[in-house]
Amino acid sequence: MSSSIPSSVLATSMRTDTCGLLRRSDVGRTVRLGGWVHRSRDLGGLVFLDLRDRTGLVQLAFGPAWSAAEVQALAAAVGVESVVVCAGEVVAREADRVNPDMGTGEVEVRVHSLQVVGPAVTPALPVARGRGDKMPAEELRLRHRYLDLRRPELQDNLVLRHRLLQVSRRYLSDHGYLELETPILTKPTPEGARDYLVPSRVHPGEFYALPQSPQIYKQLFMCCGFDRYFQIARCFRDEDLRADRQPEFTQIDIEASFIGREDILTLAEGLIGAMWREAGHDDVPPQFERMSYAEAMESYGCDRPDLRYGLELHDYSALFATLDFAVTTTALANGYRVRGLVVPGGAAWSRKQVDELEALAKGAGAGGLLRLRRAEGAYDGPLAKFLTDHAKQALALTDGDLALFVAAPDRISSPALDRVRQECARRLDLVDDQARRFLWVLDFPMFEQDPETGALAAVHHPFTAPNPEDMAAYPDEPARWRALAYDAVLNGTELGGGSIRTSDPAIQSRMFALLGIGDAEEQERRFGFLLEGLRAGAPPHGGIAFGFDRIAMLLAGAPSLRDVIAFPKTTAARSLFEGAPVAVPADDLAELHIAVAAGRRGGTS
Ligand code: AMO
Repeated sequence: MSSSIPSSVLATSMRTDTCGLLRRSDVGRTVRLGGWVHRSRDLGGLVFLDLRDRTGLVQLAFGPAWSAAEVQALAAAVGVESVVVCAGEVVAREADRVNPDMGTGEVEVRVHSLQVVGPAVTPALPVARGRGDKMPAEELRLRHRYLDLRRPELQDNLVLRHRLLQVSRRYLSDHGYLELETPILTKPTPEGARDYLVPSRVHPGEFYALPQSPQIYKQLFMCCGFDRYFQIARCFRDEDLRADRQPEFTQIDIEASFIGREDILTLAEGLIGAMWREAGHDDVPPQFERMSYAEAMESYGCDRPDLRYGLELHDYSALFATLDFAVTTTALANGYRVRGLVVPGGAAWSRKQVDELEALAKGAGAGGLLRLRRAEGAYDGPLAKFLTDHAKQALALTDGDLALFVAAPDRISSPALDRVRQECARRLDLVDDQARRFLWVLDFPMFEQDPETGALAAVHHPFTAPNPEDMAAYPDEPARWRALAYDAVLNGTELGGGSIRTSDPAIQSRMFALLGIGDAEEQERRFGFLLEGLRAGAPPHGGIAFGFDRIAMLLAGAPSLRDVIAFPKTTAARSLFEGAPVAVPADDLAELHIAVAAGRRGGTS
């Protein structure tokens, strides 16, 4: 990763070169190096040390200038992971000792002098790992992050992260975007998660919120005339964590004025292309595929479909309406649909394997997963004896097919069938790891409605503009409005999302009212700073934010965000290395005018 940096750039008064960049062309040079002892080998009196810095490894050898006793004493004194500085001559390795797996494998440094400048205690976990060595448990690695981050794999990830940030900055700056900063101590911005709150010492009982995103500030920049903004923005969200979520994460946040949706999508496609090229992938299409939210939900059951495989969902309601099968008849009578998918080859799965799929569907809220298999021309499953010839024809199953159905409201059948579809694809090995299907999901609904209370919540956020055509067509039915919102999706992962904003303060006020903040005073108290900005003359504007850690994770080929974040949190939102969060002394709390409920005090580790 770092081989693009010339060694001379990295030279300092203490070192002439870096370890990993020495090559055959350096033979004969006297070099000074500094680094960590990666491993030491004693081949019957011949001692070799591998010295490591962030550019890689080089082998140190001890020639005739060193007596056997000196070398032995040295080997005993220099523990692995100690920091040494040394001087020596670069020599070519003998042909039979060339190591083709090492960048510096054709040379070694014959050491003249060596000094241990940073002795290391025995490391709590090994940094050097042989092929096939098992990784220590992640908890241990996170606890000793200062050691884990020495691993070349993690160093490469962070170097890649740096390069992706630089290329993003350059791309956006070259397109006229200004890198502007927004506050970290802010007022709450609703992005759908809980806020991290920071107590004010000087204003008893008052709190700042850490930003869930710079959303309102970037819109205010537009009102101020900074017509193209970006920021590599740290965001904070107190939400339930998963492998692709961290409480503290980084967005590439973008906003522009006098633009429409197509302008943002084109800019974003170029940015993604630039990042993927930086990571060595030249195959990002100039334009991404597109799909409406409605189509994504209908055919894939989710708003970020993985298009690398088929197994699309279909509506079988009309077919089931002709069958005398109690479960589906009742569901249809309740106004629900029967949706499902056909899995070629699934008929070979055991009952237990299909039960496992049903458990996934139930985990997503479905009452069950109706199964029908066809093998050797015969149908099998609870539905089989109810099938008419007409239904068999309409289903058009072939031998080996397994059909799976859910009869339920769409809000249940969609997530249930989404999970089932993903698991079937995994089992059948349909997911092509090399394929990249970039997709825009467009026309999200503006609101989602609570099925019990009827209350509306913003699907994207309250500042997104509703589709003006929908507002005109259904003025009193906001639940039917689509939003001018878009998400960028790659292979089932949401890379980013954005929208055209409401720049009309009256419409923004109405949006707040629809979201249950109808009281004018409350609107002013919570969002006055945005409303005032909009009233003072706001240009049409919109933007997008990419989840930078997710992009870095995908491009590093890493399984978790923790592999591309230097000091990440666990899924329990703890930082194991420095030990945060932590209880603070009572005096500090008193100064902040905070009392912790009895029995709720944690440890002060
Ligand atoms: P949104 O909430 O969709 O939009 O966030 C944008 C992108 O940020 C990433 N992301 C996360 N990454 C890691 N950990 C998390 N907890 C996390 N949450 C979100 C995702 C997501 O697509 N202000 C709007 C953007 C806009 O409208 O311009 C916003 O924040 O990749």
